[in-house]
Amino acid sequence: MPGLFDVLEMDGLLLKNRIIVSPMCQYMAGEDAVTTKWHTVHYGSFALGGPALMMQEATAVEARGRITVHDLGLYDDRHVEPLAQMVEFVHSLGVKMGVQLAHAGRKAVVPEAILAPSAIAFSDRYPTPTAMTEADMATVLNAYEAAAKRAVAAGYDVVEVHAAHGYLLHEFLSPLSNVRTDEYGGSLEGRARLVFAVVERVLAAVAGRIPVIVRVSASEYDPNGYTLKEVIEVCQRLVELGVVAIDVSSGGNLPVAPPAYPGYQLPFAEAIKAETSALVFAVGMLSSPQLAEHAVQSGKADAVLIGRGFLKDKHWAHAAAVALGQQPQVSESYRRAYL
Ligand SMILES: Cc1cc2nc3c(=O)[nH]c(=O)nc-3n(C[C@H](O)[C@H](O)[C@H](O)COP(=O)(O)O)c2cc1C
Repeated sequence: MPGLFDVLEMDGLLLKNRIIVSPMCQYMAGEDAVTTKWHTVHYGSFALGGPALMMQEATAVEARGRITVHDLGLYDDRHVEPLAQMVEFVHSLGVKMGVQLAHAGRKAVVPEAILAPSAIAFSDRYPTPTAMTEADMATVLNAYEAAAKRAVAAGYDVVEVHAAHGYLLHEFLSPLSNVRTDEYGGSLEGRARLVFAVVERVLAAVAGRIPVIVRVSASEYDPNGYTLKEVIEVCQRLVELGVVAIDVSSGGNLPVAPPAYPGYQLPFAEAIKAETSALVFAVGMLSSPQLAEHAVQSGKADAVLIGRGFLKDKHWAHAAAVALGQQPQVSESYRRAYL
């Protein structure tokens, strides 16, 4: 089995190792969801730290799909150029960059109307959303397609559709937040209909130029939520549609934190990997280098995403290489630090 520092081919995209920076909202966008210097420094410093791929934070496909007014967006052509400059800079540091396309649904805290599959608030601290009409869904589909086209124009190497953590697409998938009685609710097929439609539109928009991956929440930690078996069925269908990798997270659709401990989401990745032909990425408290190496070497996942580990140590991948007795893949300017 390959290890953490072995290359990974993802539908023609060559990753120099199996370490990916997990998408992490910065809430540092300028007015109208535009990139600021913060993002260039933030992502640029991650890039110096040795991951193969960085996933940009949840980036809204619609203004009303932002979690807050400080989120990045790809819902306007004006967003493209500053993002393209950042991506180009990251590429110059030898790192690939992906963007997570997101719609916050009922977890949005923005001045615009809050939309969701059903008029059920996330918690008593959130407003009750408006149940989406078919016209709203058509708008969201168009927004995903347009954002995916802009992502290609900006030069990203990967597009991830965010269907996890209680945001719009997860809300549709879940019987906890979707009680619709039309064809977008009810059975798994109904609840997954919008997710599949979004993914189809994103795949059509990128037209094979870059891989499309999807982040799912594999468990809702609630007996009335969807089951892992259902998630696996959804993933199998996503792979049939053309999704190259599944990024396996969990939770987020209920205002309670799941029981978390090192590697707690790894069994979900393992279960999805066993039942699909997609690449599977594991995430969640994997920042011990030995655990990250185990996740890959054991074949439970093809790559790991590291979030907070990289926030704490921008050179997490180099430190992991040293901890595992390997030569870090550092830029020439930093080599003397590792002699
Ligand atoms: C500051 C912060 C922001 C986050 N923002 C996002 C996000 O934009 N999209 C997403 O899917 N997950 C987001 N997450 C979750 C992370 O991507 C990751 O799944 C989670 O932190 C678990 O991995 P870790 O234990 O390595 O941090 C965020 C986490 C943190 C700490």
